[in-house]
Amino acid sequence: MSTHQVIILFSLLLVVVVSSAEGVAAPAPLILGGYTPIMNISDPHVIEVARFAVGEHNKQDKTHMLKFLSIFKGWSQVVAGINYRLIIIAKPLCRPALVRRYEAVVYERPWQHFMNLTSFKLID
Ligand SMILES: *[C@@H]1O[C@H](CO)[C@@H](O)[C@H](O)[C@H]1NC(C)=O
Ligand SMILES: *[C@@H]1O[C@H](CO)[C@@H](O)[C@H](O)[C@H]1NC(C)=O
Repeated sequence: MSTHQVIILFSLLLVVVVSSAEGVAAPAPLILGGYTPIMNISDPHVIEVARFAVGEHNKQDKTHMLKFLSIFKGWSQVVAGINYRLIIIAKPLCRPALVRRYEAVVYERPWQHFMNLTSFKLID
């Protein structure tokens, strides 16, 4: 288990502890503030999330398929699951000289091995 996953699991535990301490009755989604920067964007799991985002984008938009190169920056947010917001560096398969940055948002429920691409867009 990577450091990042440990931090995420700890945050999830914290949410559970805080929620039960406050005796929260409403089944509202657990929200722990906004996005926090991902300290290590070389974390293999974060790279897996980025590759998933590019793979899903390629399934959805076959005329603009991309090759994943690296992650430029990333944030995550704990929301009864985890949202990842990643700035991904990739190049179009049809124009490999064109290296560009894309913003991907991926929602993950790690305990179910579930990931979904929420959004994917060119940013510059
Ligand atoms: C970041 O993660 C990579 C891959 O797990 C590891 O090799 C590297 O040492 C980590 N860097 C820091 C600063 O923790
Ligand atoms: C995945 O995310 C998209 C965009 O937010 C959403 O329309 C879709 O319903 C989601 N799929 C699942 C299985 O949650």
